[in-house]
Amino acid sequence: MKKTLPKIPLVYPLPIALLGTLYGDDVLYTTVRNLSIMGESPPLIGVMLDKQKHVLKHLDVGTTISINYPSTTMIDKADLCAHVPGNKFDKSSLFKTGFIIETPYIDECPAVIICEIIEKVIIKKQYLFVCHVRRTLIDEDIVVEKNIPSMNILDPIIYGLDDKYYKIGSVFGKASLEGKQLYQAMKKKLAPKPYSFHFKYKICQLKDSGKSYRRLAKEYNVYHETIEDWYALYTMFGREGLTKQFAQQLANTKFTHEEKDEIVGLIKSGKITYRDACQTYFVSLSRLKNWVKKRR
Ligand SMILES: Cc1cc2nc3c(=O)[nH]c(=O)nc-3n(C[C@H](O)[C@H](O)[C@H](O)COP(=O)(O)O)c2cc1C
Repeated sequence: MKKTLPKIPLVYPLPIALLGTLYGDDVLYTTVRNLSIMGESPPLIGVMLDKQKHVLKHLDVGTTISINYPSTTMIDKADLCAHVPGNKFDKSSLFKTGFIIETPYIDECPAVIICEIIEKVIIKKQYLFVCHVRRTLIDEDIVVEKNIPSMNILDPIIYGLDDKYYKIGSVFGKASLEGKQLYQAMKKKLAPKPYSFHFKYKICQLKDSGKSYRRLAKEYNVYHETIEDWYALYTMFGREGLTKQFAQQLANTKFTHEEKDEIVGLIKSGKITYRDACQTYFVSLSRLKNWVKKRR
């Protein structure tokens, strides 16, 4: 059951960034949370600003901006930049500013991207800036695996729509691995073990209707040989051959070493088929195959 909340754009989590740009000699910084990836190749991001922002007047297509990710130790400065407009207070005085491709960035922020605005779209009185990433920078001493820094090291400030700041927790999974395991488990569930009589009967009927062993094995995630055994039992003994009781009876038939050797000999010499042996000696195909394999 669910209850309805007021309509809010519930997208979690939102990293906090400080947008930086240069206007004349002035360095401007503004806190933003409305950030999104708009593409990886080419690398594009979207930033949404509403119209009252001081910084807005200085942003247009062709402007380069920096997106600076403060770590949690910078919470007070990031929060100040989120409440005090740039025309009332020089926010650049809070940080050590560096420059790259003539764009100011915050040196204390462990990760920074430098982007060029390539589109400006007005959507319901808000400005969406589509930006092309020109440089991705991280602190020199951060060790990176496959070019992507760990979030735990960057320690970004996360904003919740409940107006609270959060911190990243622990790593608890690996992309494309967790789902893969579930998928495999789900696939197995298609053919729950021990296989029920109805399941085996359904498979045999499908085989009767012309489906190949190969196709059935793939579709129902059952070994090809297992289906062959079921179908052999079904064609020899009818539906009863697929029951648990029948399987029990086949398994309980006792044979001495000599008897086993004799049956295997007959099969190997081609005097009888597996099927004949199964019917004559009342033994399952899988057991017969096992004997032959052992003797080899
Ligand atoms: C946590 C937080 C996130 C914010 N994110 C955005 C945002 O994504 N876009 C926006 O237009 N304003 C956002 N704001 C509001 C601006 O940061 C704020 O109005 C700021 O003072 C604007 O500075 P400026 O007038 O110097 O540009 C956010 C405020 C807070 C508290």
